Amino acid sequence: MSRLIVVSNRVAAPTGGKPQAGGLAVAVHAALKNRPGLWYGWSGRVAENPDQRPQLMERGGVSYAVTDLSSADYQEYYSGFANRVLWPILHYRVDLAEFSRLDLSGYMRVNEWFARQVSDILEPDDVVWVHDYHMMPLARFLRKRGHRNRMGFFLHIPLPPPEILHALPHHADVVGALTDFDLVGFQTPNDRDNFARYLQEAGGVGRMGNSQFDINGRRVQLGAFPVGIDTGTMMKAARRASASRFVRELKGSLGNAAMLVGVDRLDYSKGIAGRLDAYERFLAENPEWRGKVSYVQITPKSRSDIPEYMDMDRQVSEKVGHINGAWGDVSWTPIRYINQSYSRTALATIYRCARVGLVTPLRDGMNLVAKEYVASQDPNDPGVLILSRFAGAVRDLREGALVINPHETEGMAAAIRQALEMPLEERKARYIRMIRVLRSQDINAWAADFLEALEQPPARRSLTNNL
Ligand code: G6P
Repeated sequence: MSRLIVVSNRVAAPTGGKPQAGGLAVAVHAALKNRPGLWYGWSGRVAENPDQRPQLMERGGVSYAVTDLSSADYQEYYSGFANRVLWPILHYRVDLAEFSRLDLSGYMRVNEWFARQVSDILEPDDVVWVHDYHMMPLARFLRKRGHRNRMGFFLHIPLPPPEILHALPHHADVVGALTDFDLVGFQTPNDRDNFARYLQEAGGVGRMGNSQFDINGRRVQLGAFPVGIDTGTMMKAARRASASRFVRELKGSLGNAAMLVGVDRLDYSKGIAGRLDAYERFLAENPEWRGKVSYVQITPKSRSDIPEYMDMDRQVSEKVGHINGAWGDVSWTPIRYINQSYSRTALATIYRCARVGLVTPLRDGMNLVAKEYVASQDPNDPGVLILSRFAGAVRDLREGALVINPHETEGMAAAIRQALEMPLEERKARYIRMIRVLRSQDINAWAADFLEALEQPPARRSLTNNL
């Protein structure tokens, strides 16, 4: 079996410490579990003179090759272009993008550096799978070095329509460079179709079918591959933990209050401020629920040196303080706001204790919290998921979730009440519809589908609806 070389900016726990609990880490582990391979990426360290060669290591049965970045690399490539330009634009927030040519050239320089290091490791039969917006031009740099390997790219975040992509200066060198991959995968058919339109409008491409393009004699395939979760493991973890001390303590601290939960990285795309407004409106409109609900908002921080994230930090802290001050009393705190991150097992436990899961992003590629919340529920007494229509996950969960528009405070406040008061039979029926989807489209199926599409030469593949 050929080796699988996975490339992503973040790699799981390269230098010890807490394993990265994000969806990408789980997904890549699922892909590397059953075959020889290697995971290449940033070490998470900034060093003045990064080594020319990547550092090799082995952890938990997975081989890693990691590299440090210089502080200019970190500023220009990671904080600058990836997170102050690509992240907002791909999340439809052109207004927040802060473009500079210096950051763009840093992004290109680091991608070329990554390509040089991957090139040294690469053998002719290796299959390369690149993840996320940090590495869009990677295949272009690898092709320039003469590599003809099968190369796939998966975008974990949204891909907006061309009207928005065109706001990105020099977009052809970044977004357009994705055409050097053999397969470009997206979270939803909508993202895939946006990219297909972008390519067609750019011209110079031949469309060969629903999602195949002929670009300079090479065939580029597009596909939608909605990321799943490790459903079985999550269900088991939540079931097992229900008798743990952690749960006893959490439940004890709630008293008789019904718990609402939100788990999001501190990011403006997640709609945390609007959700807090909706919770306040719910308290204002429903006096009978005051003192009987407890909203736990778990929000680990990242990218804290970026101004837009600092503003958000302040805004959310102020709102939480305001709501607790205005509505709480000596024996009741309406919101518990926590900036710490928890292990997946602890999260499964917390989700299971929560009567309502609040997932209200303004825009999200998929949102795995929504899926993990559902998988963690007690089938005999499940909680209710409130889900934004702008999360990719809505396609899989719309039959069971209360779908809301995160731009409407009144609608969200009404959904909170509806969720808290929903009869058991309706909760069970909604849960069953969602868990069925999560069981059949889990993380292993996702990795297998992507790799199958990448490795089978297009000539032998018949076009499916998915591709
Ligand atoms: C999103 C992105 C990931 C990224 C993660 C955390 O989920 O899709 O690529 O790793 O956010 O952000 P950070 O900037 O801390 O890596």
